[in-house]
Amino acid sequence: EKGGYEHFMLKEIFEQPKSIHDTLRGRLLVEEGIIKMAGIWDNLERLNQAQKITIIACGTSWHAGLIGEYLIEEFARIPVEVEYASEFRYRNPIISEKDIVIAISQSGETADTMAAIKMAKERGAFVYGICNVVDSSISRVTDAGSYTHAGPEIGVASTKAFTAQLTVLSLIALKLGKHNGHLSNQEFMRLITELDTIPQKVQEVLETTHEITKEIAKNFVDAQNFLYLGRGYNFPAALEGALKLKEISYIHAEGYPAAEMKHGPIALIDENMPIVIIAPKKGHYDKIVSNVQEIKARKGKVIAVVNKGDTQVASVADYVIEFPETSECFSPIIASVPLQLLAYYIAVYRGANVDQPRNLAKSVTVE
Ligand code: M6R
Repeated sequence: EKGGYEHFMLKEIFEQPKSIHDTLRGRLLVEEGIIKMAGIWDNLERLNQAQKITIIACGTSWHAGLIGEYLIEEFARIPVEVEYASEFRYRNPIISEKDIVIAISQSGETADTMAAIKMAKERGAFVYGICNVVDSSISRVTDAGSYTHAGPEIGVASTKAFTAQLTVLSLIALKLGKHNGHLSNQEFMRLITELDTIPQKVQEVLETTHEITKEIAKNFVDAQNFLYLGRGYNFPAALEGALKLKEISYIHAEGYPAAEMKHGPIALIDENMPIVIIAPKKGHYDKIVSNVQEIKARKGKVIAVVNKGDTQVASVADYVIEFPETSECFSPIIASVPLQLLAYYIAVYRGANVDQPRNLAKSVTVE
């Protein structure tokens, strides 16, 4: 059942090249230069005329939503807000018939997300679902949607569902941008050609980082705290990396946008604080370099997640994890993989039950 892996979580981490490929299959047609998604195509006018898009979700799906915000705003230029479903449903949000709500849920059964959808529908919004479980409650109540094709996710900590959600959100953002004219054909072609390489690059990052993350993990079995930092598209990836570690290893971890460090968390940094910093070459690389220097000046332990061949960050970091280069907008899909492995191995070395962490359920069907 676990296909020779010790845990479902590890199996699911390793399934990602396939699950991303399956999510792209039949949708991303690079040679024809199109993205085929019936749910988007059939509602294109409504979607592109939206005054705003509100993304609602919980947990890891909410992190995917944050990256969705960056994608949709960058490529389709439609204003996006991302809300925890539990907050949205109880705060009388401003939602009307002109609005689009995108609900993201692996299980399609999350109680708060379900309740938020019902409220949005009552107020006339058009609700688009991104679910993994076929025929789940959320996929049935939404007006339209696109499934992630990640396959069954058994480990409580979401891994392959997350990267599949990012894949669907990328497709949606690019398709909307292409049809509403914000994305030039040339740029669209460049991006879809790159998106098509992501399964292969995820395969590569699995092969090249598996052993190293396992080795690095050994040094942090007794850590009490962790910070995860990233900028731009990789800020939500930092949040997700921290959540993975908390859930399965029970080590306290927080994610922050790297620039926020000096507004508080820098006070925590000393020789006992491990800091995972996601620093691809694209994006605000120079700014990240100075963040790393600030951390090192305070003796923090830096685990740098950088592009292959990086020398600047790599030369000051204590530990280096390399991943293949890609467009900034797709980098969280690849960078998240070694963070999943790192959390996994730290938890395994601590003897934790990674597939069934204490106090957690796979789908949270009560609020
Ligand atoms: O099934 P959903 O995507 O709606 O679940 C949302 C969260 O409960 C879920 O992502 C949770 O945070 C995971 N355990 C994260 O690994």
